[in-house]
Amino acid sequence: MDEQGRRTPRRFSASLHPGAHGAVSREFTFVGGSTGSWRITKLSAVRGAGLPTARHVAVFAGAAPVPGSSEAVWVLRGVTSNERYTTRPEHEALAACQPELGRPEATEAAFIPIRKAAAWWALSQDERRALFEERSKHIATSLAYLPAVARRLHHGRDLGEPFDFLTWFEYAPGDAAAFEELVGRLRATEEWSYVEREVDIRLIRADTAVVPPPN
Ligand code: HEM
Repeated sequence: MDEQGRRTPRRFSASLHPGAHGAVSREFTFVGGSTGSWRITKLSAVRGAGLPTARHVAVFAGAAPVPGSSEAVWVLRGVTSNERYTTRPEHEALAACQPELGRPEATEAAFIPIRKAAAWWALSQDERRALFEERSKHIATSLAYLPAVARRLHHGRDLGEPFDFLTWFEYAPGDAAAFEELVGRLRATEEWSYVEREVDIRLIRADTAVVPPPN
C-alpha cells in the first residue's frame, strides 16, 4: 500500500469470511477502476494528496472478490463500527429519520475518504466529542438533511489504511444541492481544521437510464 492508497488488489483473506461464531464481516472495499456500479463524475483533492483518476467505483461487502489488478487503480478498505460520539437522544433522533442505502431514487452518491491529523487522535474522547458536536454541531447540522441523504461511515485507521474514514452518501439528483450545502457547512467547522487529507468523489449509478427529453 502506498501513500496514494494504491496497492495490489487481493482476494479477501480467510479472516474476513464469517468467523467462528458466524459473525458477518463489517468490512467494505471500494475499488476505483474501470468497472463498478457507480460511475465517477468528479474526483478532486480537497486537502492533501488526491487519488489517481478512475472511471468507476465498485463497492464490495464482506468476502466479495476484488477485480484483477488491470481493472483497479486504487483499493480502499474500511469497517463499519459502533458509534463513538452520539448521545442516546441523538442516536434516537438519527434512527427515526435516516434512510437505508440503495433507494431506487438515490442515483447520485458521494464517496469522501478523510484522514484526521495526529493532534485529533491525541485528544481524549471527551475532548473529541466536545469538538465534534458541542463546538462543530456535526450531528445537529446534519440531521436537518435527513431523510434526503443516506449514509454509511467506515473506519480505516485501525486497519492501517491511508484514510481514517471512508464516508459514503446516497441522494436523489434533486437533493444534490442540499448535500453540497451540508458539505460546505461541515468543512467550515472547527472539527474540519483537524482534517489533513480529504478527497471528494461524486458518482452516479452506472445503470441509471438516460431518459431522452420529451419531443
Ligand atoms: C448526511 C448527513 C450526516 C449525518 C446524519 C452525519 C452523522 C454523523 C454521526 C452521527 C457521526 C458520529 C458517528 C459516531 O458516533 O461514531 C458522524 C461521523 C462522521 N461524519 Fe458525518 N454525518 C453526515 C454527513 C457527513 C458528511 C457530508 C461528511 C463528510 C463531508 C461526514 C463526515 C463524517 C466523518 C469523517 C465522521 C467521523 C468523525 C470521527 O469519528 O472523528 N459526515 N457523522
